[in-house]
Amino acid sequence: MKKTIYLCLSVGFLFSNTSYSQKDETSLKTTYEKDFLIGTALGIEHIYEKDAKANQLIKREFNAITPENIMKSQIIHPEFNHYSFEASDKFVEFGQKNKMFIVGHTLVWHSQLPAFVSKINSADSLRLFMTEHIKAVAGRYAGKINSWDVVNEALEEDGTLRKSVFLNKLGEGYIKEAFDLAAKADPKAELYYNDYNIEQPAKRKGAIELIKKLQASGTKINGVGIQGHWSINSENLKDIEDAIVEFSQLGIKVAFTELDYTVLPNPWDLKGADVNQRFEENPKMNPYKESLPDSVQNRLAERYENLFKVFLKHKDKISRVTFWGVNDSHSWLNGWPIKNRTNYPLLFDRGFEPKKAYLSIMKLKSKPTN
Ligand code: G3I
Repeated sequence: MKKTIYLCLSVGFLFSNTSYSQKDETSLKTTYEKDFLIGTALGIEHIYEKDAKANQLIKREFNAITPENIMKSQIIHPEFNHYSFEASDKFVEFGQKNKMFIVGHTLVWHSQLPAFVSKINSADSLRLFMTEHIKAVAGRYAGKINSWDVVNEALEEDGTLRKSVFLNKLGEGYIKEAFDLAAKADPKAELYYNDYNIEQPAKRKGAIELIKKLQASGTKINGVGIQGHWSINSENLKDIEDAIVEFSQLGIKVAFTELDYTVLPNPWDLKGADVNQRFEENPKMNPYKESLPDSVQNRLAERYENLFKVFLKHKDKISRVTFWGVNDSHSWLNGWPIKNRTNYPLLFDRGFEPKKAYLSIMKLKSKPTN
């Protein structure tokens, strides 16, 4: 497979009379540099540069980074009066050292909250937590973080506001409060609302209403992050294209912030089947344990190719495309929604080699019209 990819890339880049393996400036970030940023999510092992191959790949291919977990409040703010900045300092240092666009993820999220938040009873105490958290975290990296996911996943699937602890205790104004606090703590950072499935019509409508309300109240919001956790088994390109157009009509940037395509069966697609431990024992739910068949590899490549065609068509509206992980072994999709599976959702395989999906994206740009 590796040889085939290098051969194809050589053909694809024939006009430059070179191959990918010979000239490593032919990378995602350089190929797409006139279109949008190409990012990746970093795990703690990447931030501390533990693996030479991963490290080399990150620096060669990507010009934007997002911390996969270490800036979540549970990790960065474990106790009311205690913050743990070691890993996030290192993350920001990594980005600065490599001249990368640095994304902060995320300031306000109902999930992965520190344990002490579950003991908070009053609205005032929760507001104090949120205020102090944003001031401390966004304030510490003011001028260094380029873009913040300020509020994450505040919507239900039907487009109404998620019944989170923040909504329940603070009311819907918490979203505006969070954005205003972030703007004050770091006036230079771009501020984004980030969510999954907001390309889908009902949830998209909710996101548009939310953003319009923020804008009408004079709150700073620069962009929307469509996460992009998708499956090779479902078609959603029209929704994606509609979402890009409709969000950008609000005068904001559109980023794809957490892109990956699962290739594995989803237990919830099985009518009448319970989601329980039995799935973990069921080999049918982990069909590509040893390797990925060519037919699936091809489908993944086709999905990425078609998606990037849409991205290129609307490149004037898109600020960044970030993959949710560095290579297949790193992906959260090996552990969700069923633990210990072998998934293949990204562009680089377990040996850090480019997959056919990588080639499919690169070859789009070898055409002179792009
Ligand atoms: O750090 C602990 C470790 O000490 C422990 O030994 C281990 C045992 O399971 O768990 C480790 O924590 C895990 C953490 O990832 C770091 O690996 C958590 O259990 C696990 O829940 C956590 O999952 C992350 C998930 O968000 C929840 O925070 C995924 O890695 C991460 O990819 C995922 O990312 C989210 C975005 O932030 C928001 N959008 C959806 C996306 C996918 O769920």
